[in-house]
Amino acid sequence: MYLFIGTLDSINKSKISSILQQGDCLEILKKLPNNSVDLVVTDPPYEFAAHGGGGAFGSKQREYHNELENSDITKGFDTKILDELIRVMKKINIYIWCNKEQINMYLNYFKDYNMDLLVYCKTNPVPTCNNKYLSDIEYLLFFREKGVKVYGEYATKHKYYIMPTNKADKKKYNHPTVKPLEIIENLVINSSQENEIVLDPFMGSGTTGEASIKNKRKFIGIEIDETYFNTAKERIKEVEDIQQKE
Ligand SMILES: C[S@@+](CC[C@H](N)C(=O)[O-])C[C@H]1O[C@@H](n2cnc3c(N)ncnc32)[C@H](O)[C@@H]1O
Repeated sequence: MYLFIGTLDSINKSKISSILQQGDCLEILKKLPNNSVDLVVTDPPYEFAAHGGGGAFGSKQREYHNELENSDITKGFDTKILDELIRVMKKINIYIWCNKEQINMYLNYFKDYNMDLLVYCKTNPVPTCNNKYLSDIEYLLFFREKGVKVYGEYATKHKYYIMPTNKADKKKYNHPTVKPLEIIENLVINSSQENEIVLDPFMGSGTTGEASIKNKRKFIGIEIDETYFNTAKERIKEVEDIQQKE
């Protein structure tokens, strides 16, 4: 198994374990074939630029997309990315981190699918001023269509996580929103099997990549920022090197 920076359709070749690409995921995803990904685990920036319009997707999504375009519910998020993700997934099987303003949009967009809400409660949140609750919860929405299994075991299937933010990883990878590896590993274990393909179009420092490779899944990662991309590349390469020695 080895890391490969190249065309996305090469992921099915047996020796390739991950494909990483630097650039805008909206453009790069277009090169990925239909029905080619088993699981998406992603953490989009909450202020993702809105483009609106276009995309290949089902009529229900199209209907809702049109409604969204005429509202301000998508403020800060381009729903075209969801259309692309639906296109590339074999079956809807997707975890998306989001803030509370985005929950409604996602629930409506994926309203025909089974939904679970997972939460990550931080025990060391940044203090806030008067008249405001602390920002100590992050939301993780899980959508899957009928027939998509949840594997894992008792210990991996909790819907809540209570832990401090991992300051060590933030410092190590120099990324402000690194997610806890433990949570992401559980998602990968619960919702995919060995050798299946996991995609993260907003990979940041590469947490989903590390979780996937550690658990013998294949990984496709996209990141627009060159510095974060290089961090993720090094991080994933390190895990692959360890695995090769095992
Ligand atoms: C919330 S962070 C993800 C952090 C990641 N979960 C981790 O543990 O490191 C979102 C990432 O998406 C990247 N990004 C923003 N717009 C993008 C785009 N259009 N295409 C690809 N990546 C993008 C940002 O640079 C940022 O690193």
